[in-house]
Amino acid sequence: MNGPILTQAELASVRREYRAASLLPARAYHDPEILAWERDHVVRRDWVLVAREEDVPEPASFRLVDLDGENVIIVRGRDGVVRAFYNVCRHRGTAVEERECGKAVRFQCVYHSWIYDLEGHLVRAKHTEDLEDFSFEAYSLVPIHAATWQGFIFLNLSEGDVEPLEAQLIPLVRTVPTVLARWNDRVTAILDSSLGAVPWSGDRAGGRARFSPPAPSSLPGRTARAGA
Ligand code: FES
Repeated sequence: MNGPILTQAELASVRREYRAASLLPARAYHDPEILAWERDHVVRRDWVLVAREEDVPEPASFRLVDLDGENVIIVRGRDGVVRAFYNVCRHRGTAVEERECGKAVRFQCVYHSWIYDLEGHLVRAKHTEDLEDFSFEAYSLVPIHAATWQGFIFLNLSEGDVEPLEAQLIPLVRTVPTVLARWNDRVTAILDSSLGAVPWSGDRAGGRARFSPPAPSSLPGRTARAGA
């Protein structure tokens, strides 16, 4: 499907101010064509949250994740950078890591023992010594765009250059405090009317707790194209 998955009328209805807006049409939740569109236009083309940095806490920590059916290795290099690769040996396609998580000195394929370092470079390949024009550089693990923000790890399955994660998150980060501030005012009003006499445990001084939304700030996330 190349065109929009919802009609202009449906989009206009959903995008109205929330009191007047309609729900998404029911087919958005069960239509296989819409699922395929979302996979093509979002899951395989955009940044997707897959893990937390605590999942790969130290240099040489790795974890396998599934992203839209792709078997992916997330690994923290000895330089501290989080990278990601397809968990597919470049020889004949065997998974190079079968453990779900742990620490790795290297990734060694169990089939014919090709060895890759934590940056995905092929560093040993048996029986290739006498091959003409065999290039180790040409057989690195295939990298996947990886980036971190606020401890979250995002992957992007797109090939080639992608829009940096930060560029997509900045507008959101600028909007969220405003939304939370509105939400906070509403919650405070409810507490005023219904729980005014009840000490709020979140405030040690005895008054009501008040949520302080984070101030918009520059995004400290790193972006790494594995193997780069
Ligand atoms: S399939 Fe990995 S070394 Fe042969």
